[in-house]
Amino acid sequence: MAYMDTAKKILANNWRNGFSIPTDRLYPFQWLWDSGFVALGTSHHDLDRSIDEIRTMFTGQWDNGMLPHILFHSETEETYFPNYDFWNSNVNSGAPQFPKSSGITQPPVFGFVLEDLLNTHTDNSKLLSFAKEIFPKIVHFHRFLYHYRDPNREGLFFIFHPWESGRDNSPLWDDALNKIDLKKDEIPAYTRRDTSIADADERPTSFQYDRYVYLLELGKKYKYDGEEIAKESPFLIQDCMMNAILIKSNESLIKVGNMLNIDVSEIEDWQVLSKRNFQSKFWNQELKHFVSYDLRHEKQMTHKEIGGYIPLFANLASDTQANAIKDYLQSVHDRGYYLCPSFDVDSPLFDSKRYWRGPVWPQMNWMLYHGLKSYQFDDLAEIVKSDFITLVDKLGFYEYFESNKSDVENLSHGYGGGNFSWTASTYLSFKNMNA
Ligand code: GLC
Repeated sequence: MAYMDTAKKILANNWRNGFSIPTDRLYPFQWLWDSGFVALGTSHHDLDRSIDEIRTMFTGQWDNGMLPHILFHSETEETYFPNYDFWNSNVNSGAPQFPKSSGITQPPVFGFVLEDLLNTHTDNSKLLSFAKEIFPKIVHFHRFLYHYRDPNREGLFFIFHPWESGRDNSPLWDDALNKIDLKKDEIPAYTRRDTSIADADERPTSFQYDRYVYLLELGKKYKYDGEEIAKESPFLIQDCMMNAILIKSNESLIKVGNMLNIDVSEIEDWQVLSKRNFQSKFWNQELKHFVSYDLRHEKQMTHKEIGGYIPLFANLASDTQANAIKDYLQSVHDRGYYLCPSFDVDSPLFDSKRYWRGPVWPQMNWMLYHGLKSYQFDDLAEIVKSDFITLVDKLGFYEYFESNKSDVENLSHGYGGGNFSWTASTYLSFKNMNA
């Protein structure tokens, strides 16, 4: 109980006027998918706040439908790079003047978030009218992904920046980033802020950061519009997790739309196309894993990583595929890791400490838990839930956590930012399930 109170306190402290910051100093603005996960956990004790959180996020939506990955509500905050002036999103005339925003997006979580809120609070008239208000905006966001980010009309959208995936420095992106041959004068001078706030060992390297800045500049050059970027970007990826989340959110929107008597035929059409191509594009029979696809170099990215389990959450795996994933995750558990490490524990690129290269991430456990449950893998789902709770109880409400059990024994805190919103929120979601 005490920890649930702490979680609520963290969320209250991270609440600004109408939205939550992920954590003080390191991430002092509103982030897209963080907002969705915060809305989930908050809704159990303060539904109004969840509604405000989502509504505020959509004040940053662009005319073309894009939902930016960061909204810079407070322009005086100086501790973050790249700040709104560096993104200069107003090169696109459809970007709002206020709030200022980044020029890239993040996982489209709001469809399934909305469905979850409606399932938790049935017959709540305020929520129902909010659902009607926000529904077309979520659809418009999805329309953006299908229209601007899918040049071959496969129903699978691309990202042109690793930050869009939410898994910023996963080894998954290394190959594509390493191929970018950067000359010094190809990027403007910049000063990182993250390494003066968090431990540099836990953050992306400067080689990676230079490439992040390069891709940002490329987006800016083309006003952050999809078509030209698709032609030029050396980094052009159809991310398995992002597309699984889109399909999951579509499915939720279809259910919600039917309930609210809204026409969902446009979404159903997208869904048919996306589902048809998902299997052939992302399943890798040799690895027995779902993987992402490098659209620029036209090949599958043959790595086992956490994004490859999220198709379970969207019911995209056949029973045989789901069983293979379950057996693999069970073996990772049996070998002494907390579930779920963000990258292949057997790869030389695995690093149990560094950001997306191995640690456990709260919101990933939430999606994985629900994915495993929907395939009736109840025991493993319980492990995914209780591993996360154990980590928080022992190490605190950090951004992400050590995945190697024997290393955790010697630790007294988690990694990255402390008092973290999605950690507190996921904790509350899981604990409310137990209640
Ligand atoms: C980091 C994470 C990203 C998250 C953001 C704010 O960039 O990689 O997933 O949204 O921090 O918490």
